[in-house]
Amino acid sequence: MVASAIVQAEGSLARQIERAAAILGQSGPCLVLTGAGISAESGLRTFRGPGGLWEGHDPAQLATPDAFARDPETVWRFYAWRRASAAQAEPNPAHRALVRLEEQRGEDFLLVTQNVDGLHERAGSRRIVDLHGSLWRLRCVAEGIEFEDRRVDLGRLPPRCRCGALLRPAVVWFGEALPAEALARATEAARCARVVLVVGTSGLVHPASALPEIARAQGAAILEVNPEATPLSRLADVCLRGPAGRVLPELVARTEGVLGREPQA
Ligand code: OAD
Repeated sequence: MVASAIVQAEGSLARQIERAAAILGQSGPCLVLTGAGISAESGLRTFRGPGGLWEGHDPAQLATPDAFARDPETVWRFYAWRRASAAQAEPNPAHRALVRLEEQRGEDFLLVTQNVDGLHERAGSRRIVDLHGSLWRLRCVAEGIEFEDRRVDLGRLPPRCRCGALLRPAVVWFGEALPAEALARATEAARCARVVLVVGTSGLVHPASALPEIARAQGAAILEVNPEATPLSRLADVCLRGPAGRVLPELVARTEGVLGREPQA
C-alpha cells in the first residue's frame, strides 16, 4: 500500500471505531463472541488461513472422537503441545480491553469464547462461557468426571485417571455436541443482547457462528473486529478491519466516554 492509501485506511478505521463506540455505548446487554484471532497477537496460531493450525494438521486425525479412539497418544501430543504454547503465551491488549468492558457493564456483559487457551481468564475476565471447553480441564472417558489440571508436563502420554481409564482434554471435538449448559447460556445471551461484538472468528463453525444471527433477528446491533471479511460481516452494522490488539483498546476507551448515551442518528 502506498503511504497515502495507508493514511486513508487509518482515517477510515478511526471513523469506524467512533461509530462502533457510539453503538457499543448504548446501555443494555452486551454479548462478546471471540475466536482464535484474538489470541493471534499473543503468538498463538489461528486454525484457518495461511499458517493456520489446520493447514499443517488434519483435524480428522487430531480433533475427533475417532482419532482419539484410534491413537490417543498422537492426539495427546497435539494437545500437550497446545497446552505448552498457551502456557507460554500472555494475554494481549485485546484480552485486557474485554476485561475493561466487563467492568464497565457489569451484569450486562457475557463473553462467549470458542477459544480453549484460557487467556481471557488469565487476563481477568470473569463472566465467560467456554463454548468449546478448555485445554486446562481433563475428563475421564469412563467416569465422565471433569477436573482442572494446569500442569504443562502431564508425564507419560496419554494420561490416565486413577480408575485406570484414559483421560481426554475436555474440549469439543468435531462431531461432538457442545456442553449443553454453555450453549444454553450463550443462546439466551444472544436472544437478549442489545449489542454483539464479534472478535477474531472466521464464523465458519456452527453453532457459535449462529449466535450473531440469533441476536440480529431480535434487533441487536452487530460489530465485527477482524482484519479480514467473514461470512458474519454481512450482519455487521460496523466492520472494524484491524487487529484486535489495536482496535479493541481504542474502542473500549472511546465507549467509556459515551456509555449510556443514545447514539446520534
Ligand atoms: P479461525 O482460525 O477459523 O479464524 C480466525 C479468525 O481470526 C480469522 O477470521 C482471521 O481473519 C482472524 N484474525 C487473525 N488475526 C487477527 C487479529 N490480530 N485480530 C482479530 N482477528 C484476527 O478461528 P475460529 O473462528 O476461532 O474448533 O475457529 C472456530 C473453531 O474452529 C475453533 O474453536 C476450533 C476450530 O476448528 C474446534 O476445535 C472444535
